[in-house]
Amino acid sequence: MKRVAVLISGRGSNLRSLIAAEDGSYKIILVVSNVEGAGGLEKAREADIPVAVIPHQGKTREAFDGEIDRALRAAGAEIVVLAGFMRILSDGFVRGWEGRLINIHPSLLPAYKGTRVHQRVIEAGETQSGASVHFVVPELDAGPVIAQTGVPVHPSDTPETLAERVLEVEHRLYPEALKLLAKGNVTLKNGLAVFS
Ligand code: GRF
Repeated sequence: MKRVAVLISGRGSNLRSLIAAEDGSYKIILVVSNVEGAGGLEKAREADIPVAVIPHQGKTREAFDGEIDRALRAAGAEIVVLAGFMRILSDGFVRGWEGRLINIHPSLLPAYKGTRVHQRVIEAGETQSGASVHFVVPELDAGPVIAQTGVPVHPSDTPETLAERVLEVEHRLYPEALKLLAKGNVTLKNGLAVFS
């Protein structure tokens, strides 16, 4: 059973799905938020999961990441899951958790990295979008994909309606991908996701 820490900044709907899907392969032992009032903190507390709030304001990236790193190691985390965590992590932090750090992104990576994804997808006239879970590497949203699922984009979609459709898929995809990693069925080797 792998000890998992989840990093959040917001409402934590993915956190909730990860809590609900816990099985013998992983257990969430800590939730860290950089935002004091993040809705996800309440979801963690309801599930009796320890929480830590580590604000980023007034700190260098390295100092902030150092604090997070110490909290994760003190809790004995083995896997770190980013779930709506809105800070870019330093190269040093990412290297320290290489192969054990994953993120979910609301597009079919490598398409539409970065922010304002749904708006850009709609503006480009795409007919398909989706969600991807990937290993985190220093370059933003560029790590090898572990799992992804597509959803249709409808002509009448707004960023909000598309976000909702993608989010439903995220809630199934993230626990599946985390279980692959927790069971050792996917590993990061030479910059590639290797499945066994
Ligand atoms: C999700 O859309 C995720 O793909 C993105 O941030 C959002 C987090 O939502 N990285 P929630 O806080 O899990 O509800």
